[in-house]
Amino acid sequence: MGHQVFNWQINRKMNYWYPEHRPARQIGYVFDINKCIACQTCTLACKTTWTGGRGQEAMLWNNVETKPFGFYPTAWDVKLLEKLGAQSWGEDEYEGQTIFEAAPKGERMLGFRPEDEDWSYPNLGEDEVSEPIPAGMHLQGLQTSWMFYLARICNHCTYPACLAGCPRMAIYKRPEDGIVLVDQRNCRGHRECVRACPYKKVFFNTVTGTSEKCIGCFPKIESGFQPQCVTHCIGKIRLQGFVNPPDRMREDNPIDYLVHVKKLALPLYPQFGLEPNVYYMPPIHVPRRVLRMMFGPAAEKAVETYRSAAEDPKLLGAMLLFGSTERILHSFKVANDFAIGFDEKGAEISRVPLREPIYVRPYHDQARGVYRHNTP
Ligand code: SF4
Ligand code: F3S
Repeated sequence: MGHQVFNWQINRKMNYWYPEHRPARQIGYVFDINKCIACQTCTLACKTTWTGGRGQEAMLWNNVETKPFGFYPTAWDVKLLEKLGAQSWGEDEYEGQTIFEAAPKGERMLGFRPEDEDWSYPNLGEDEVSEPIPAGMHLQGLQTSWMFYLARICNHCTYPACLAGCPRMAIYKRPEDGIVLVDQRNCRGHRECVRACPYKKVFFNTVTGTSEKCIGCFPKIESGFQPQCVTHCIGKIRLQGFVNPPDRMREDNPIDYLVHVKKLALPLYPQFGLEPNVYYMPPIHVPRRVLRMMFGPAAEKAVETYRSAAEDPKLLGAMLLFGSTERILHSFKVANDFAIGFDEKGAEISRVPLREPIYVRPYHDQARGVYRHNTP
């Protein structure tokens, strides 16, 4: 079925329903999982902006779940991973099947539609760790259990399964920025998109009878601003910009730099074959076999890179620009111990010191007649 397209994340050609057609530029995000505290500010920033209406009650375009036991909807990834079977990698080439290649006869991709109840418990498993902690072990130092928070939005995939799945072609990818949208006038509620998206980021609205999904805050993008989930993140774990394929990447573009140059930010479940465009800096305390399953074979090296980031001023600079401005950063540089970010026209829009300045105040403030303590 379909066409042969190149997917750089699995480093090979694969089958897709439509020919390869990359947008003029592609929206892309980097999330630093190590900094996420699951405060859900992103979830609420999105919800209060876009999904406060009827039929949208259980709809979270942005959600944050605890891995390994948190899911929204329930078991979304483990169900598909099990259906897909063995997912083996060569050195950097995926040797298993993508969801398009594993499609059952007569279907466009391997998928499933969650039950209504599966959307009802977005915080199921929150803060649960990977295994029981024996009594008293917390007093002995090292623990083998782990958990981490995984923030999730639509990946505005290069090869969207939702788009390929819709029999009415009601889903389209914008040629100007790669944002994937459902055309509400054409949607007739077939829900094939819900079945198709492996990340389960299309939601059916039972009141309107149509499907809805993250719109990448496109009105903000069009005005040069980063999306709501990014600018409201109090942990400053997110950066939105534009990502290029490896042959067109620019080293001064912070997203390209983290994804392609440092290979520190990795796609989630690249083996599904969609070339998703949210890239994660993997959690450094999690067993390598889990990271490999979730983020592919580059995860181990990415953890090493993350651990040594403080010794690399350019990398440190790129990471410090997260949450430093509401505007979209198109390029950056590090000079004189500052990370400096620029807009599309090259005007400076952000400046962050590589080291937080320390101000030592006099113990006795003569001007105000008060005594003060300095805290480190
Ligand atoms: Fe479509 Fe899902 Fe990819 Fe978003 S994450 S573009 S909804 S397939
Ligand atoms: Fe198509 Fe999904 Fe609507 S399959 S018709 S976009 S519900």
